[in-house]
Amino acid sequence: MAGQLVTLLLILRVMAAVSDDLKPIEITIAKVPNGFSVMLDWENECLKEEREVTFSAVYKKLGAPDNESQTCEIDEECSCSIPSPGLDHSHNYTLLVTAKTPSGKTLSNSQNFDPNQETKSAPKFSVTVSDALVIIAIKDHQHNEEYNITLRRNDSAEETSVIIRLYPHIIPLNELLPEQTYCVKVSVYCIETMALSPFSPEECFTTPAPGLPSNLAMNALDLTYLLKWDWDFDQSPNATFFVEKCLSYNGCTKIKGCENITTPQCDCSGLNFIGKFILRVSVYDGQRKEKSASTIRFSAREDTNFGPPKELKMQIIDHNLFINVTAPDGFRHTEIYNYCPWLTNLSYWINATHDPEVTFEEKKQPFFTIHSLKKSTTYCAKAKMACKNSNRSSLYSEVYCITTDPRSYTFAWIIGFTFLGIVLISVLLYFCFCPFKRYMKQIFFPSNKLPSSFEKGLGDPSLNCMKTPFLSHTEEATDRCYIVQNSFPEDLVQVNYNKTSQVNNQDSGNYSHEGQTTGEAFTQ
Ligand SMILES: *[C@@H]1O[C@H](CO)[C@@H](O)[C@H](O)[C@H]1NC(C)=O
Ligand SMILES: *[C@@H]1O[C@H](CO)[C@@H](O)[C@H](O)[C@H]1NC(C)=O
Ligand SMILES: *[C@@H]1O[C@H](CO)[C@@H](O)[C@H](O)[C@H]1NC(C)=O
Ligand SMILES: *[C@@H]1O[C@H](CO)[C@@H](O)[C@H](O)[C@H]1NC(C)=O
Ligand SMILES: *[C@@H]1O[C@H](CO)[C@@H](O)[C@H](O)[C@H]1NC(C)=O
Ligand SMILES: *[C@@H]1O[C@H](CO)[C@@H](O)[C@H](O)[C@H]1NC(C)=O
Ligand SMILES: *[C@@H]1O[C@H](CO)[C@@H](O)[C@H](O)[C@H]1NC(C)=O
Ligand SMILES: *[C@@H]1O[C@H](CO)[C@@H](O)[C@H](O)[C@H]1NC(C)=O
Repeated sequence: MAGQLVTLLLILRVMAAVSDDLKPIEITIAKVPNGFSVMLDWENECLKEEREVTFSAVYKKLGAPDNESQTCEIDEECSCSIPSPGLDHSHNYTLLVTAKTPSGKTLSNSQNFDPNQETKSAPKFSVTVSDALVIIAIKDHQHNEEYNITLRRNDSAEETSVIIRLYPHIIPLNELLPEQTYCVKVSVYCIETMALSPFSPEECFTTPAPGLPSNLAMNALDLTYLLKWDWDFDQSPNATFFVEKCLSYNGCTKIKGCENITTPQCDCSGLNFIGKFILRVSVYDGQRKEKSASTIRFSAREDTNFGPPKELKMQIIDHNLFINVTAPDGFRHTEIYNYCPWLTNLSYWINATHDPEVTFEEKKQPFFTIHSLKKSTTYCAKAKMACKNSNRSSLYSEVYCITTDPRSYTFAWIIGFTFLGIVLISVLLYFCFCPFKRYMKQIFFPSNKLPSSFEKGLGDPSLNCMKTPFLSHTEEATDRCYIVQNSFPEDLVQVNYNKTSQVNNQDSGNYSHEGQTTGEAFTQ
C-alpha cells in the first residue's frame, strides 16, 4: 500500500516535472479606480530590453462563446487595461492570455475577475526623521498587503520605489542629500483580492544637516568588520560613542563591546554574514551636552572584501614555471568558501622597466604552468580568487618573482648525462673486473698471491672485489681458507685448519666457479 503510494507520488512528481518544463504565463489583475489593470510576464521576459515573447489577451463573460471576446491591448510594459464602463456588472469575466515563446511554442493561461471588485483606497502612512534615520510606517497594515513606497526629491521627477510587506521602511540619512526636501507616496496591493489602490497624496520631509560623527567607513575583510569614523578629539576630547544595528523589523539594538566607547572605531565582527543592516553611530559629547548620530548601510555578504590568496609557490623545472596558488586564509570560513564557485585568476609578466605585457589566466584548479621560459629573466605573478558567476573577487596576493638561470638548460643536461655515464661505466667495469681477476688468479697463480704489479693494476682486493654485494660473508671466509690450505707453510695451516676445516670441506671445490657465475650474470 505504502509502496503503491510512493510510486504514485513519484509518477505525479515526474508528470509535474514534465509539465513544469515551460513555466505558465504570470497574470496579475488589479482593480484600479477606472477599471482593471493587467500585468503579464513569462520567465522575466518583460524585464528585458528586447523582448522575445509576444503576448495577446482577450476577455469575455465567464462561459460566453469565443466570438464575444474583447481585446486587451498590450503595451510596451507587458500590461493592458480593461475599462470599467464596458463591463457587465451582473457577470464575472475571464481573461485569456496566449504567448508565443522564443522557441515558437504557444502557451496560454487564464484568470477570472469580478467587475464588482472593490477598489482599495490609498493607504495612510507616516514619515519620521530622527537620529539619522527616515522611518516610513504604514498605518493599519495587513498581512496580505504589499506597499509600493515611491520616493523623489521635490525638485526632481526621478523616482525610486521599493515594495515592502509587514515592517516599516527605514532609510539611512547618509543615502539622502542633506538639507533637501523629499516626497514620499505609497500605494497598496492586496494579494488575495488583487485590488491595487491609487497612490496616496505625497508626504514631504526635509533632511537635516549632515550629522556627526562624519565619514563612517566599514573596513570589512572576510568575517572581520571594523567600523571607523572621524572625530575631532582636539575640540571634543570627552566624547563617548555607541554603535547600534538597525533592522526595520526590530528597530535598533546596541552592538556588544561598542557601548560608551571613546575610540573612533568599533569591531562589529559578530554581525551575521547574510544580514542586511543599517549601522548607526551615536556620539554624546560631554562638553556640549549634545547627542548626534550618523548611519551607514552594511551587508557583509555584499560589502566585505575577500582576503588575498595566501601564497604563490613557484618552481622552475626544465623550461617551465609551475605556480601553485594557496587558497586565502578566509576560505576556512564556510560562509566565504561557499559564497560562490571560486576560480583562481593569475596574472603574470616579465619584470621589465617599461610597462610589461601582463597575461591573465583563469582556472578552477589553482595550478598554472608557464612554458618556454627565457634565460636570465625575472617572471613575476600575482593571483586573486574570482567568482564564476559575478564580478566579485578577492584582493590580489603579493607579487611573487622568480629569475631563471643564465645557463642554458641543455648545457646543464649534457653535463648531467655525461657525469651519469661516467659513473655507470665505472660501476660496470668494476663488476667485470672482479670475476676476471679471480679467473686470472685461478689459471696462473692458483697457489700464490698475485704479483704485486697485477694486484695494484686491479686495485686493492680487500677493498674491492672481496666486498662485492654478490658474495656472502661465508663465501668470503671460504675463499680465504681455500687459499690458506693450499699455499701456506705447515705451521700456519695447523692453526687455521681446526677453525675452518668443515666449511672448507664443503665449499672449496666449487668456489671459483660460483664467483664466475656471479660475475657473468651481472655482466649480462
Ligand atoms: C456569436 O456567435 C453566435 C452563434 O454561434 C451568435 O448567436 C452571436 O450573435 C455571435 N455574437 C457576436 C457578438 O457576434
Ligand atoms: C463572481 O465571483 C465571485 C468570487 O470570485 C463571487 O463571489 C460572485 O458571486 C461571482 N459573481 C457572479 C455574478 O457570478
Ligand atoms: C511602484 O510604483 C512606481 C510608481 O508608479 C512604479 O514605477 C513601480 O514600478 C512600482 N513598483 C512595483 C514593484 O510595482
Ligand atoms: C522643494 O522644497 C524646497 C524646500 O521645501 C522648496 O524651497 C522648493 O521650492 C521645492 N521645490 C519644488 C520644485 O517643489
Ligand atoms: C553607557 O553609558 C550610559 C549613560 O552614561 C549608561 O547608562 C550605560 O549603562 C553605559 N553602558 C555601559 C555598557 O557601560
Ligand atoms: C574631560 O574630562 C576630564 C575628566 O573627566 C575633565 O577634567 C576635562 O575638563 C574634560 N574636558 C572637557 C573639554 O570637557
Ligand atoms: C623588477 O624590475 C624593476 C625595474 O627594473 C626592479 O627595480 C625590481 O627590483 C625588479 N624586481 C624583481 C623582483 O626583480
Ligand atoms: C558588479 O556588478 C554589480 C551589479 O551586478 C554592480 O552594481 C557593480 O558596480 C559591479 N562592480 C564592479 C566593480 O564592476
